[in-house]
Amino acid sequence: MEDTKVATYEELSKEELLSLKSGLEAQFEEVKAKGLKLDMSRGKPSTEQLNLSMEMMDVLNSDSDLVCEEGVDCRNYGVLDGIKEAKQLLADMMEVPKDNIVIFGNSSLNVMYDTIARSMTHGVMGSTPWCKLDKVKFLCPVPGYDRHFAITEYFGIEMINVPMTPTGPDMDMVEKLVESDPAIKGIWCVPKYSNPQGITYSDETVHRFAKLNPAAEDFRIFWDNAYGIHHLYEDKQDYLIEILMECKKEGHPDMVYKFSSTSKISFPGSGIAAIAASDANLEDIRKQMKIQTIGHDKVNQLRHARYFGDIHGMVKHMKRHADIMRPKFDTVLNTLERELGGLGIGSWLSPRGGYFISFDSMEGCAKKIVAKAKEAGLIMTNAGATFPYGKDPKDSNIRIAPSYPTEEELAVATQIFVLSVKLVSIDKILSHKE
Ligand SMILES: Cc1ncc(COP(=O)(O)O)c(C=O)c1O
Repeated sequence: MEDTKVATYEELSKEELLSLKSGLEAQFEEVKAKGLKLDMSRGKPSTEQLNLSMEMMDVLNSDSDLVCEEGVDCRNYGVLDGIKEAKQLLADMMEVPKDNIVIFGNSSLNVMYDTIARSMTHGVMGSTPWCKLDKVKFLCPVPGYDRHFAITEYFGIEMINVPMTPTGPDMDMVEKLVESDPAIKGIWCVPKYSNPQGITYSDETVHRFAKLNPAAEDFRIFWDNAYGIHHLYEDKQDYLIEILMECKKEGHPDMVYKFSSTSKISFPGSGIAAIAASDANLEDIRKQMKIQTIGHDKVNQLRHARYFGDIHGMVKHMKRHADIMRPKFDTVLNTLERELGGLGIGSWLSPRGGYFISFDSMEGCAKKIVAKAKEAGLIMTNAGATFPYGKDPKDSNIRIAPSYPTEEELAVATQIFVLSVKLVSIDKILSHKE
């Protein structure tokens, strides 16, 4: 049989690389001359996806009865932590009992920020406020979500990188650090279809999280399940063990806060967000909440509850999102495989859900690749953004967000990306072949 294995770029001679480079440069100049403006930087749903939820705008009108199930007029003050039907919907979405959930406003990131802010100023369930401690540290699985890292950086919390593995964060390292250092107060986790790798934590990882014996009594797992029902395929879906129940079983009911929202289900910025936690944690949270607000937007809660009906309605809705997202992921993944497969200049994972594809270039190339792509009009997430303080020690991780551009735009954008990867990698290899 004929050997179809392609040579890696490292295996090519200097002359072969130079000739390859001049051909690629010509292609690059050609796309650059088109003066394109493309954006693969942020995980925003496309207009087509937003259109899926437009009927939600018709669920309530001036003739609607705005009284919720428990008899409260949603137009008025009242009900601090969410109307019953919204609680039920989000509880089912987050796989927790209805009584272990509090509904907030329009953003889960906001709830995470408030959770850290409250811990800083008032402490966690009676422990010393973090602002009174010499040092507060957080574990940050990397690559991770830039906005998580921005919150902890903003409050002066020291961040420690923990490498991600295909089954979740390096749990040997998590256990060793959490169980020995009382200054470590939390860990950021995106446990399902993680941002940016699309990794789902394995059963063993979740079990090990639930079994942690933290040195700090106020250590909390910040479990941001933003992509819990955001599957791409019907036949290939990841499964994540429910952490709240698991922590309870292990005798650590208070060790986790779970966050989620409908941002990428209905409308980002106009959805509803929630926290799920133990009774004791929720009591602590409500103490602050009742000072902070008389109650969040119940009309929007009612709109969501009536539009989706129940979790089955929501799951059905997510299939329509998947039908739009799947071809886009396929376009990027197929192009990466076709253009870069076997060349030894990059690696990536094929996620089964979520919003991102994570690409690892050769060391020291990510910043240059992102800059190169920009020359041809393609905006990518800044290299380094997936690490605390914006510093990727290997300068190799790049987050690709395929959701927002149209399929046609995405095809061109991915071409620009792979050309940029090839050109920057050739320069790197040539530099040590001199
Ligand atoms: C992991 C993760 N958490 C939270 C958010 C933001 O959620 P929200 O719109 O509920 O603030 C995002 C948005 O990209 C995300 O990727």
